[in-house]
Amino acid sequence: MGFWNAFLKMDTGIVGLDIGSRSIKAVEASHKGGRFIVARHGTAPLPPDAIVDGEIMDREVVIECIQDLLRESGIRSRHVASAVSGRSVIVKRITLDSMTTEQASEVIYWEAEQHITYGIDEVSLDFQILGEAGQGKMDVLLVAAKKETVDMHTSLLRDAGLVPVIVDVDSLAVQNAFEANYETDKSEKVLLLNVGASVTNVSLLTGGAPLFTRDLSVAGNAFADEIQRVLSVDRDEAERIARSPREEDRERIGPILDTVGQDLLLGVERSLSYLRGVSGSAEISRALLSGGGALLPGLHGYVANRLGVPVEIADPFRSLDFDEALFREGEREEVAPSLMVAVGLALR
Ligand SMILES: Nc1ncnc2c1ncn2[C@@H]1O[C@H](COP(=O)(O)OP(=O)(O)OP(=O)(O)O)[C@@H](O)[C@H]1O
Ligand SMILES: [Mg+2]
Repeated sequence: MGFWNAFLKMDTGIVGLDIGSRSIKAVEASHKGGRFIVARHGTAPLPPDAIVDGEIMDREVVIECIQDLLRESGIRSRHVASAVSGRSVIVKRITLDSMTTEQASEVIYWEAEQHITYGIDEVSLDFQILGEAGQGKMDVLLVAAKKETVDMHTSLLRDAGLVPVIVDVDSLAVQNAFEANYETDKSEKVLLLNVGASVTNVSLLTGGAPLFTRDLSVAGNAFADEIQRVLSVDRDEAERIARSPREEDRERIGPILDTVGQDLLLGVERSLSYLRGVSGSAEISRALLSGGGALLPGLHGYVANRLGVPVEIADPFRSLDFDEALFREGEREEVAPSLMVAVGLALR
């Protein structure tokens, strides 16, 4: 899926570039003999106000950060797959009369008009047929992003010296990384929670195909905000405590994890009950946590407890080929969950 596909020769590899509000992540992958090989990866932090709510506030800082990141991680390919996010992106599950992909690509424009709050001329549209919905209908995942947002995004990448080949959406990149790495039963429903700094992407898949996706505004920042407020510490200290595995810190933030975790799970449960409404059942068999927030000590246990199903921390390199030297000792566990989106993009 992508809004903007250019002619691309796949011999140099493609860079999945995940421009988050907290950090930029890059993963370079190439395609050999039907398999993906991950060649390089890297992460670079962004200053707090460079990106707010998915919107780029400080262009120069972001461009410089991307360039430094690619140079320091030794990434040579200039072809990038990246994603837009925030309020200008809409991902929605809709129902159409059954038809071919070709026919759908003609009517989607008219159908989308009823589901999108922006003027239809202002958005880039894409869609994916999910499957039969019975009674001559089919389910379709509609993806729309404001053209202005996509244009600003691609022009920033070009100014950074890059060639944008695909512009995707975070939640769909998460799904892509999942599909490339995990096997699922046809009937089982898997919940994906990608907990970033400002956004948590919630997706539900069945038989590997997306059923539903929604973004929640409770993520890593909400935990740090609450720690800062309740313990009266500064931001850096709050971030440190949030990540600290030390017993005394864990005890101090136990109640905070409960409060914010509750908010997060409320959003997840709302999504599941919405789905119960549209598809009759939302019994999930397991959940996968990714994003930097997946590493918040205690979150994994909290989510598992609340959902009552097995919860795993995602490893987007699980089924991919890579050189042993790709990760320093212990580095894979440390960075893999937060590279979920970047991997999903690099595999497009
Ligand atoms: N090792 C770690 N231990 C605990 N928490 C971590 C760790 N690494 C990152 N985090 C938390 O994860 C969050 C950042 O995750 P991530 O890098 O996925 O966000 P982002 O993609 O930059 O943001 P967004 O997608 O929301 O704009 C922060 O809140 C941070 O505190
Ligand atoms: Mg992110």
